Amino acid sequence: MSTNNGYAPGLEGIVAAETELSHVDGLKGELIIAGFPLARLAANATFEEAVFLLWNGRLPTQIELADLKQELAELRPLPIATVDLLHEATKARTNPMDALRMAAATLDLGSGSADSLTTAKMIVARVATIVATTHRLRQGEEPVAPDPALSHAANFLFMLTGEAPSDARVRGLETYLNTVVDHGLNASTFAARVIVATQSDLVSAITGAIGALKGPLHGGAPGPALDTVFEIGRADRAEAVLQAKLDAGERLMGFGHRVYKVRDPRAEVLGAAAEQMFRADGDMALYELAKSVEETAVRLLAVHKPGRNLQTNVEFYTALLLHGLGLDTDIFTPTFAIGRTAGWLAHCFEQMKYGRLIRPQSRYTGVMDRVWVPIGQR
Ligand code: ACO
Repeated sequence: MSTNNGYAPGLEGIVAAETELSHVDGLKGELIIAGFPLARLAANATFEEAVFLLWNGRLPTQIELADLKQELAELRPLPIATVDLLHEATKARTNPMDALRMAAATLDLGSGSADSLTTAKMIVARVATIVATTHRLRQGEEPVAPDPALSHAANFLFMLTGEAPSDARVRGLETYLNTVVDHGLNASTFAARVIVATQSDLVSAITGAIGALKGPLHGGAPGPALDTVFEIGRADRAEAVLQAKLDAGERLMGFGHRVYKVRDPRAEVLGAAAEQMFRADGDMALYELAKSVEETAVRLLAVHKPGRNLQTNVEFYTALLLHGLGLDTDIFTPTFAIGRTAGWLAHCFEQMKYGRLIRPQSRYTGVMDRVWVPIGQR
């Protein structure tokens, strides 16, 4: 932790909330989500089970799970004004993360008096519909209406293509959504908590969190990470391309983390899921290339920033897995938001129940006692 008389740039090392939602141990490379080691939750839970777990602190019974699935399915269709907005955003060539932020802000249109839990379900259900609708419109295709018979993950893949996805693809996406569902007090979660801490509302909190997630230092890295793998193209070019980026002062996307000083445990889970997906598709070339790029990047970063322990983070294998699932690069970060929305909302509930107004202080470093110069004399 680097503090200077109570000042910690970037709040590094500061504990600003207590939570029962997830535990991140950056030195051991451990992530616990509501009591489950990540690998156990990610591989076994449906996304709806993960949502219930985070919002209730326990796994659902069969009836509770069936009820939640049905409620989410019924809440999927978007208000007409939201669809109209997405048409406008597409015409204006708005990037999908900005379109998601704009559309998310409209989500309580016409349902302003709903209770928090119904609003939260509506947000989880509709964020996926917004991302799929944006994708279809950007492809010049009509949006695909949600299918209430499908699970959240299966329906999202269905709305992207209009075709029923294979079980393996649904499992791959579900593993991804569970893996990113929550992760301590990351920047977007903190943003959401700050917003509800003022007794503002859930739609405002999620809209703000989406804005925070967009940046390349947070959720915006997987697209550029995959671009780098494609740019490298062949394992024997990895060292030269990556070294040139470092020499030019660029950051290698998908590497380094504020908390993890060892390999991000999510990279482990997503790497295994990606390997399964590429193996099932019968073409391991991209997976093998990515493994080699990862090994080279970690080796070069150790020389470039000795002692910083810059290791693979979640975004590197996110890129590979989502690409393997057939998603376009420009909806990688919005798809991250589909999973993380459930975690943001769980943190909002915690904050609303136990939290205080979040209001840190700043240290003034400006001038004191300035002389006022009237406008005519300037
Ligand atoms: N490539 C090259 N250099 C790096 C990288 C990287 N990926 N990551 C950190 N560094 C360097 C920094 O330039 C800095 O050097 P300096 O102290 O000489 O200026 C040093 O290592 C420490 O980096 P900080 O930015 O202080 O580390 P911080 O904890 O603030 O940053 C972050 C973490 C933002 C994730 C950083 O590692 C990074 O930019 N990575 C690339 C982007 C990325 O993958 N983002 C996704 C993160 S995962 C997530 O949010 C879901």
